[in-house]
Amino acid sequence: LHGSMYVKEDTLHIGGVSCVELSKKYSTPLYVLDEKLVRENCREYIKHFKVNENNNKVAYAGKAFLPLYMCKIISEENLYLDVVSGGELYTANKAKFPMERILFHGNNKTLDEIKMGIELGVGIFVVDNLYELELIEKICKEKNKVQKIYFRITPGIEAHTHDYIKTGQVDSKFGFGLINKELYNAIEKLYRYKNVELVGLHAHIGSQIFDVKAYMEEVEVMMKLVKEIQEKYNIYLKEIDLGGGIGVYYTKEDNPKPIKEFCEAIIKMAQKVCERIGINLPKLVIEPGRSIVANAGSTLYTIGSIKDIKDVRTYVSIDGGMTDNIRPSLYHARYECSIVNKMNDKELNKVTVAGKCCESGDILITNTKIMDIKSDDILITTSTGAYGYSMASNYNKIPKPAVVSVMNGKDILICKRQSYEDMINLELNF
Ligand code: LLP
Repeated sequence: LHGSMYVKEDTLHIGGVSCVELSKKYSTPLYVLDEKLVRENCREYIKHFKVNENNNKVAYAGKAFLPLYMCKIISEENLYLDVVSGGELYTANKAKFPMERILFHGNNKTLDEIKMGIELGVGIFVVDNLYELELIEKICKEKNKVQKIYFRITPGIEAHTHDYIKTGQVDSKFGFGLINKELYNAIEKLYRYKNVELVGLHAHIGSQIFDVKAYMEEVEVMMKLVKEIQEKYNIYLKEIDLGGGIGVYYTKEDNPKPIKEFCEAIIKMAQKVCERIGINLPKLVIEPGRSIVANAGSTLYTIGSIKDIKDVRTYVSIDGGMTDNIRPSLYHARYECSIVNKMNDKELNKVTVAGKCCESGDILITNTKIMDIKSDDILITTSTGAYGYSMASNYNKIPKPAVVSVMNGKDILICKRQSYEDMINLELNF
């Protein structure tokens, strides 16, 4: 049970609201956000990453989950925000998120996106490649602006996680490589470019990482670069952005470090390395997405058909699936589930939870232990707050579920359920 989940009279409650009541009021599938837990996670980061003492920055990675309401929470909790597209930037701007607190990422920002970022006045462009650098310089020159930038580095580090969410290795589409002097070529351009100001470096080694050692390697690479750039080019980099990727609990196989320990470990490592190589400690930046929101989100489904293949498997089908949670099919991600009104029952049945899409691969959980079930029971999958709603699709023309936020016994609708009409809105009826 994460955050403000508790069981009262056999029924699971989140933020003081019964999951049975939520499913009745809003129907299913339904994403439920534990707002208190999101805010607590933000505060843990602010406190232990020494945002106030050392001027470090915590930027929430919006790709994990970014409705307007989430922008508001992140803004109120004083985090920065990492956006990766015109769409995320647009959302943040609509939510009146302060533009100077935005970091604009992406390995192929389009000309329009770059213009939009500059016009809106985003704080930092995380520049991925020379092409982008040239465009930013050109547009800033036209507009007579100076844009603060970081360079994204490919640090050449292999983190132990799924191949699709690794990003730091040499063979990566992201960032300036170190082995072929790409970074130095970019820095040399800066002598001619007067409308960009290099203030830091960024790297992101991957996602769902438990091993602090990978970050240690990253810190080492980054700080040595700071020193090298100082000595070679006389450029003093003030900010080092280590990216996101901190692993979270999905099932009993996962053993994440608390935010506090993780932050303390990073800061200590950075201090040590800087001392050893003889440079001043730069401001540190991290970009957690999953570790802020994953455990704060859950999904409620209604069970429909139950197919018992004797001595083989029992398929329990739910009214959602890969359209609202692509992670099991895409990354073999694992989840836990329960029946929300039978929380004190023993988990005696072995079942496979299947989605409703026309794909054999649309399986949410393979072989899980669960309480006694019947059709119409409400099933909950926990830890779906990150990369669930944000990666949802309309495959099979299944509408996106609604999202409600719960806190202190109150529930508020933050994203409406998509209607059939919404889904055909952009289609022309000849
Ligand atoms: N910063 C950068 C530059 C990133 O590319 C990412 C994630 C993050 C921060 C945040 O990482 P987090 O703290 O959330 O792990 N869809 C995949 C995850 C892809 C993550 C991509 N980049 C999933 O569902 O596991």
